[in-house]
Amino acid sequence: MLRSKKLYYNVGCLIGHCMSIVCRVSKMNDESIKQELEAADRTIRQSPLCIRTPLLADCWAMFQSCWSEKMKNSAPSKLSLKLEHLQSFGSFKIRGVVNQMQHLPDDARSRKVKLVTMSAGNYGRAFAEACHRNNLDGLVVLPEFAPESRVQFIESKGLATERSSNIICRIKEHQNNGCLFLHSYDDPLLFYGYGSASKEIFEDEPLVDVIVTGCGGGGFLSGVALDAKLRNPGCEIYGVEPCNANAMHRSFELGEAFVLPPNSRSIASGLSAPSAGEHAYRVCREKVKEIILVTEEEIKKAVHALYDHGLLVEPAGSAVFAALMCDKIPDIANKNVVLVLSGRNMTANELFNMHNVPAEVIAEMPSESPAKQ
Ligand SMILES: Cc1ncc(COP(=O)(O)O)c(C=O)c1O
Repeated sequence: MLRSKKLYYNVGCLIGHCMSIVCRVSKMNDESIKQELEAADRTIRQSPLCIRTPLLADCWAMFQSCWSEKMKNSAPSKLSLKLEHLQSFGSFKIRGVVNQMQHLPDDARSRKVKLVTMSAGNYGRAFAEACHRNNLDGLVVLPEFAPESRVQFIESKGLATERSSNIICRIKEHQNNGCLFLHSYDDPLLFYGYGSASKEIFEDEPLVDVIVTGCGGGGFLSGVALDAKLRNPGCEIYGVEPCNANAMHRSFELGEAFVLPPNSRSIASGLSAPSAGEHAYRVCREKVKEIILVTEEEIKKAVHALYDHGLLVEPAGSAVFAALMCDKIPDIANKNVVLVLSGRNMTANELFNMHNVPAEVIAEMPSESPAKQ
């Protein structure tokens, strides 16, 4: 077991908690990682909260209008899209949350210990749903700027919320008061849960050469990379980040996990984690070929292109498609390529604003997309 139940109780603060995980993971070999991935996959397959998402296979021709002439001359042998935006609750996050919750100590299961996390996005949504369905006591600390709709959603699931301008400090205080902290992107239990998405890709497309995912704190990329490299060490893994929130890219340059300046924001909010995860950085450094950067305009164009082809994908989930459309993924000619579309949580206002719909039409739109659960 990577992270023993006892460990949960021994952490005095957030940093101590993260360092303990890193120390233990660095000692793991491929065999024990494989066992963790398999156990997580079993948990996820048995969970009523997760679904097996489809692969839209061999769809290069379907997106003809998106490719430049140059790209058409050096096309992949096959392009497929893993439709993880169709995952329950709108993103891949539930795979990791379900695995985290499988490892909770009894005191958390019986509501004697409250769970605490920090997220204004897809993790918070998946965490709230999972707490609600498992009758767990939970608290989500959100940044002060988080939209009110996010707060309302979490509270509607019976969880407490709190806004803070210094989230890390608040989390530490809650830990000191006996709460159990679950990290929203830098927890190996998340990575192992996310590995199940890679397993499904290999089941549907065994000869995949290249897998591309979005990267925020790096948790999803780590999970996919851990699993994929065990299945085929020759499979190349790429992460995609916005230029405006390039924590993992900077980490690769600097040789250590990078903390973004406080006001780093991107339209791809899911890819705007405050830092690259300490442990995620180590995994990615070892397993990921390159972090590709895309601009805000490129992300918007990708959201539009996917929407025009019937796929409602939020900016964070569309960044991989932006990287492909802009011919930024190296060396894909004649390769079997899979892009993971990772989330669909986007309000109708956000979507229609991107399409420059007149203000009076936006005003009539409901504030939450019906795609949200
Ligand atoms: C839709 C979507 N894609 C990708 C990511 C990046 O995940 P990670 O922070 O694990 O790198 C997120 C994170 O919230 C997300 O919501």
